[in-house]
Amino acid sequence: MKRKPFVGGNWKCNGKLSGVKELLAAFKGIGADPKSVDVAIFAPTLHIPAAQDCLAGDAAIQLGVQNMSKTGEGAFTGEVSAGQVADCGLKYVLVGHSERRSLYGETDEDCAAKTKADGSHGLTVVFCIGESLAERQSGKTTDVCEKQMKAVIPVISDWSKIVIAYEPVWAIGTGVVATPLQAQDTQYQVRRCIRDECGAEIADSVRIIYGGSANEKNCKAEADSVSELVTPQRSKLIHDMVIHPSTSDALGELPDVDGFLVGGASLKPTFTERIAPIA
Ligand code: G3H
Repeated sequence: MKRKPFVGGNWKCNGKLSGVKELLAAFKGIGADPKSVDVAIFAPTLHIPAAQDCLAGDAAIQLGVQNMSKTGEGAFTGEVSAGQVADCGLKYVLVGHSERRSLYGETDEDCAAKTKADGSHGLTVVFCIGESLAERQSGKTTDVCEKQMKAVIPVISDWSKIVIAYEPVWAIGTGVVATPLQAQDTQYQVRRCIRDECGAEIADSVRIIYGGSANEKNCKAEADSVSELVTPQRSKLIHDMVIHPSTSDALGELPDVDGFLVGGASLKPTFTERIAPIA
């Protein structure tokens, strides 16, 4: 099934106001057709109004926030509610990023509560999951991703407003990008989990994107990378990858990789080169 690609740029807590304007001026006019690809920039919340000014009249790039409250409005100092995010004209929110989980103690339950808090506000939640290096090395990647998914699945009422971002913690900001096989294999398992829990229609339509040191250059297929991790149940998948090796943009051409969530590389004008090949 052909799914519309999604490319997100997560600026994290980086940059000054002047940099926002410079960067968005470089991104503007990339010519991405919103019918063919969704592009979202997750700017620091304080920079959102300036970003909105810069992008006025350019429907190709939407804006989102990097975090939101699990509550509605009220006496919650320092929080921003889903209703407020939507009221300001934003379309997207990141939930469950590994930095929120590891640095700010957000649990699977917190992440589910934030997703649920979106309720009728109509934001698209980009829900992040992924394993640590120790978990991958001990063969727990699928279990960890399934646990994170199973915590949020019960609160999702509209799957058209969900994008899953698989971000192995060991690949975030390290320069160590997952191999095409690692990304495809894990995202295949995440989709299989969604299929088991929610049925084929949802599993086949939900977008699952990859994040972790992704940039415009590091996605070339390595012919040898497909020879690892062969198990009988995955043989067809491996077979397909060997028979149809990606040559120009390996991660972007994998069957279960529907786009990217880009951190550091989205702070450079070359970020838009990530969009062009899949738009
Ligand atoms: O949200 C983005 C991810 O944390 C990836 O960041 O591209 O700098 O590794 P990175």
